[in-house]
Amino acid sequence: MYIASVPQAAFLAFLWLQSLESTWATPARTQGFLAIPLTKTYNLPSSQLDEPNALFANGGELAGTIQSPTADAIHSLGLDIEGDDYGYVASMLIGTPPRPFRLLVDSGSSYLWVGGEGCVMGDGSGDCSNHTLIGPQSSSTFKDTGAPFFVKYGSGPVAGHIVSDHVNFAGIDVKDLTFAVALKESRHYGLKSTLYDGILGLARLLPGQSSFPPLIDTLYEQGFIKDPIVSYKIPRRADHLDDGEVAIGAMNPAKYKAATVITLPNIGTQRFWEVSLQRVVVNGLRMTWGTRSAVLDSGSTFILGPRKDIAKVHTAIPGAQYQNGTWAVPCHTDVIISFTFGDRTFPIPARDLPFKPVDKNDPDGLCLSRIGELQGSTDSRWIVGDVFLKNIYFSTHLGKNEISIAELA
Ligand SMILES: *[C@@H]1O[C@H](CO)[C@@H](O)[C@H](O)[C@H]1NC(C)=O
Ligand SMILES: *[C@@H]1O[C@H](CO)[C@@H](O)[C@H](O)[C@H]1NC(C)=O
Repeated sequence: MYIASVPQAAFLAFLWLQSLESTWATPARTQGFLAIPLTKTYNLPSSQLDEPNALFANGGELAGTIQSPTADAIHSLGLDIEGDDYGYVASMLIGTPPRPFRLLVDSGSSYLWVGGEGCVMGDGSGDCSNHTLIGPQSSSTFKDTGAPFFVKYGSGPVAGHIVSDHVNFAGIDVKDLTFAVALKESRHYGLKSTLYDGILGLARLLPGQSSFPPLIDTLYEQGFIKDPIVSYKIPRRADHLDDGEVAIGAMNPAKYKAATVITLPNIGTQRFWEVSLQRVVVNGLRMTWGTRSAVLDSGSTFILGPRKDIAKVHTAIPGAQYQNGTWAVPCHTDVIISFTFGDRTFPIPARDLPFKPVDKNDPDGLCLSRIGELQGSTDSRWIVGDVFLKNIYFSTHLGKNEISIAELA
């Protein structure tokens, strides 16, 4: 959701859906589950970076290629890691002949789209040809419905058409999957340094919000998966394990401790996967504030929260400083921050908190904090991104509108 949450203007990026209306059938059922490896990309306000594209340029090496499904029963989509855990990218084959497209895996938005042939950048600075594009010239099975598609993320809008084509991933082969192509996209998406060709949104869409169903609904309806479940093992580059995965249709028992699973109602009233945030503890100090909720957002590198909350958290971190509207923490901090959901507490190890050094010549000094202000937010909602998510296993259930969280295996 850097997409959704780390725009130029503010950290939070909401996705505005425009003039989309729809009805789609209730899913049927299937067997087995699908897992898709993840790779992700990040975008930060350039004010926080020495060079605007440093994250992309330096973080461009991807951890691996898509993993083939380990078994028919497990639909596993492998995740590539972008940079220093900025984002996670999965690959899907689209079209005839099939060609690989790289997709940012985003539990905080709801559409699957890739660039379309003829796509141009909205600011007139060029076309989208530094990315893999789909259309009638490259795919004999591509169909353009002509229906308009528009979505606005924090980092800018994307406009195009609703289309269909063959899509193959994680051992699933869907004929004529409905998705969208971008024909005009914000500059960010067209840049060569943006290491994905589109976005795989895995949040919900409520009936009436869209003229086409989300991927998971289609997979469920057409019997590719037994349950409309998406489960995430967000990897950490420093672990060197190449173990990131999105499992589709089930939770992957190899990835979490079964005895630790808690299941919580989704309190998100819109597309988000959102749970009640019981408690935040920093260095043993319990943060006190009113009712808080947490959106679980794989598309956000950082954790973002209301300004006052974020100040409280950092005030409890020895050596933390507020500079230029941004919190920084000692690069070698030993602070442990924990989040409690349901009655279970999940810590974030100290090593996960510091981001880039404030002064790159002083890597032992202050580093930008991976917990930041959700600008413009006055509400009680936190966006909990990969800083936290790589420390848990989590799973969303579209049918039951529930979220399960567990300790990693
Ligand atoms: C593709 O990327 C290269 C390198 O950044 C750039 O020089 C070129 O202009 C880009 N092409 C388009 C069409 O934007
Ligand atoms: C804040 O701005 C000053 C002056 O530009 C700079 O030296 C310092 O590194 C900045 N701090 C952060 C945390 O960005």
